[in-house]
Amino acid sequence: MTNISSKILTALPSSVNDALKRVIEHKKSFKCYIVGGVARDLLLGREIFDVDITVEGDAVEFAGILETKNEAKIVQTQPELRTAKLKFKNGAEIDFASTRTEAYPKKGHLPVPVKIGCPLEEDVKRRDFTVNALAASLNEEDFGEIRDFTGGREDLEKKQLRILHKASFIDDPTRIIRGLKFSVRFDFELEPETRTLQDEYLNNPNADISYSRLKSELMQAFSLPYPEVWKKFTEQNIFTLINKDFKSEINADKAFSLIKKYKPANQWLFWLAPVFIGSKTLDLMNFTREEKKIITDLEKILNSTPQQNSNLGIYKFFNGIEKEAVLGYYLFTNQHFALDFLDNLAEIRLQITGEDIKKAGMPPSSIYNEIFDAILEEKLSGNLCSREDELDFLKFLIKELKK
Ligand code: CTP
Repeated sequence: MTNISSKILTALPSSVNDALKRVIEHKKSFKCYIVGGVARDLLLGREIFDVDITVEGDAVEFAGILETKNEAKIVQTQPELRTAKLKFKNGAEIDFASTRTEAYPKKGHLPVPVKIGCPLEEDVKRRDFTVNALAASLNEEDFGEIRDFTGGREDLEKKQLRILHKASFIDDPTRIIRGLKFSVRFDFELEPETRTLQDEYLNNPNADISYSRLKSELMQAFSLPYPEVWKKFTEQNIFTLINKDFKSEINADKAFSLIKKYKPANQWLFWLAPVFIGSKTLDLMNFTREEKKIITDLEKILNSTPQQNSNLGIYKFFNGIEKEAVLGYYLFTNQHFALDFLDNLAEIRLQITGEDIKKAGMPPSSIYNEIFDAILEEKLSGNLCSREDELDFLKFLIKELKK
């Protein structure tokens, strides 16, 4: 049997571990485990950032005992799911969850808890992939031992993702995006039957799903620093979840080199904005105003024609457009002036104002726009470096206009 006690001891602060030991010893009815992603990552030898603990039983009750015994303080509890956040003496905050079974009364939406405090085996069987259904014991008698009820250990070795039951993707289609994320992050493949069930779901996806969960998983998957996310997303037709009519024309390696150079803040939407154009899901995703603007900006510029014969024309075409959309435009059209805009023009702003034009002796009128454009054009060409340069050019323009 695999034992990862030394790995656990490096991930879990020793004072927390000692506190748990004292309480578990005293209250033998409670058993504690590291379950899911953390157990998986410990086995894979990956860095652990946040340990959470599953209690076989009621985690809130267990947290109460830790508090009474002055081992930790309860910071927060969630009464319905029976979870508790505890702050230990060394400052570590750790989430404790109760084992639970779940049901999906509305397929594709959040599950509801059915049985809280169930045996560990039942808890792990509600999960997405076998590699995420592994548990490591924190109990004295078998500390560090892996509890593997679903064959997750073997799948980890085979580097494959396998769902636990046939209806898994119907219950929770976001697992398809989770599979994409894990397969790229760990360089795993979908186990053949899992792939078949994924294909079946994607051929007939349910329109009524939890789009906020979908969004959260898409953000995580497409924030990974690998072009393979896009490659698998298109090869496996996963885009169907957003827009079944999408036709991919994107070169993932080229797209990824743009990400490395231009570092768009919303990398995930740089990838996905083209898929959301024309998608019925656009209004269901709970996009922020900025996120939605990336998509509408891309749609707008892809449907317009710029005046490319001057810097001013290019500047006006892209000014105010989100960077992700400008990059997307380049990707689709191959028009290099989009990158020229980002490289040379995007940051340029006029320093003079209408007040300066007035002071220079020109009463307010529509001619101001022409003056601004003329000065901007000169500035975009690199001929005006300071506010003084702009003012000098303004004086020259007004003299010319008054001739
Ligand atoms: N889980 C699941 N189905 C989901 C989401 C989560 O079965 N749709 C289960 C998995 O066992 C997962 C655990 O809940 O390991 C914790 O969820 P999350 O933190 O999202 O997963 P991690 O595997 O820890 O992912 P990451 O490494 O990206 O944090």
